[in-house]
Amino acid sequence: MGWKKGICRILLLLSIVGTTWAQHADINLPAGQDQPNEGEQESRDAGTELEFSYHDHDQMTRYLRAVSTRHPSLTALYSIGKSVQGRELWVMVVSASPYEHMIGKPDVKYVANIHGNEVVGRELLLHLIQYLVTSYESDSYIKWLLDNTRIHLMPSMNPDGYSISREGQCDTIHGRHNARRYDLNRNFPDFFKANTKQPQPETEAVKEWISKIQFVLSGSLHGGALVASYPFDNTPSSRICRSSVLCSVFQSYAHSPSIAPDDDVFRHLALVYSNNHAKMSRGVSCRSEIPRFEKGITNGAAWYPLTGGMQDYNYLWHGCMEITLEISCCKYPPAHELAKYWQDNRQSLIKYLAEAHRGAHGFVMDDSGNPVESAAIRVKGREVTYHTTKYGEFWRILLPGTYKLEVSAEGYLPQEVEFFVIETHPTLLNVTLHSAKRIDGGPYYRPAGPPRPPPAPTQSPGLFSTFTSSINNFVSSIFG
Ligand SMILES: *[C@@H]1O[C@H](CO)[C@@H](O)[C@H](O)[C@H]1NC(C)=O
Repeated sequence: MGWKKGICRILLLLSIVGTTWAQHADINLPAGQDQPNEGEQESRDAGTELEFSYHDHDQMTRYLRAVSTRHPSLTALYSIGKSVQGRELWVMVVSASPYEHMIGKPDVKYVANIHGNEVVGRELLLHLIQYLVTSYESDSYIKWLLDNTRIHLMPSMNPDGYSISREGQCDTIHGRHNARRYDLNRNFPDFFKANTKQPQPETEAVKEWISKIQFVLSGSLHGGALVASYPFDNTPSSRICRSSVLCSVFQSYAHSPSIAPDDDVFRHLALVYSNNHAKMSRGVSCRSEIPRFEKGITNGAAWYPLTGGMQDYNYLWHGCMEITLEISCCKYPPAHELAKYWQDNRQSLIKYLAEAHRGAHGFVMDDSGNPVESAAIRVKGREVTYHTTKYGEFWRILLPGTYKLEVSAEGYLPQEVEFFVIETHPTLLNVTLHSAKRIDGGPYYRPAGPPRPPPAPTQSPGLFSTFTSSINNFVSSIFG
């Protein structure tokens, strides 16, 4: 490892897990078992048991701290920021390398409780943590998963909303929003339509988080339906319909799918969740006003279009494939049902994350083998651009087939590489980019400007220009 890489790693570590170290520093004694002043519940939670009951913010915090103290080689606890009312936005990493990104291996995540009153996912992530750390030694599949993946679990993105939500409220919106009454899943920048909502601290924290770590795959856990919903959530028709009343009436009933360039992959990912779930794939409707979803999956916009959602943002801004998992008909079911929800979802939660190991991944390097950061990665025919990390890494989840990778970076000659993907094993693709400078020391083929800063999608429409034109084609083909 060169000194540059070393420093990068240390900086990354400092910026990401700085708060974790602080957490560790203020825990002198392992929380839980030895502490007489804690209730019986916490004392058992700190052991290998986790009750099927709801954990409020303080109980959850104690549980997470206890696990990170008890399993220091498999977990790391960090906070990405604070909610409006000052609650920590906790993330627990579970991995054989909890403190450090494993170069060449994917980081993945789940985010739950973005709507404060949709709470099943919040408890399921606590149980997932418990399951992963206690199965590592005994279950070879879990061992493989944690040895090769860093799993970041955020049990609550909206702890303030949770604090006013009430058990047994299946179908209300009380507690859905953050403390300033913003819907956090309408609060992200949107590709299809300008989002004018004031960015909230919880959303800002998540945006910063996912800009620092290249997540490959993600799930957002919700409640109120039983379906795996995949991008896009928003639709270009909200643009072309703006001018006409009739058109917008039509649009609200049309429910046409909004097809992402990786539609095949997203459908597959959604099916992995629904097929491994105890009953999601049966496509049973929760209530009369919710449609029956064929195989338990749906395109987001085909159900209903929305602006400012988190999943489209993850994909288009950061090349992270995220889907939305609606895992309970009742948003806040009675606690005695939690064990059943865990049984129904356990297999799905694990199998879904393992999908980060499907497709192609590799490194982009220069002539001397140094990583090329922020190289643009495109799969021909899929008009969405991913970027390499500071280590030159990239991941592209793809189904079996033959593809062409287009790699380009400022100052280098663009490259095209043909490759194929098989079902059973990811394809490793190392790409060397050659300097655009002529070997004889003559002039550059292209004028070399100053080094370009990492792309900021909000300000660079060029990034999506081809994508836009394919959307326009799509639009003109349906609306003629
Ligand atoms: C690909 O590049 C990585 C990083 O430089 C290296 O560790 C790996 O051995 C290379 N693999 C192949 C097959 O070239």
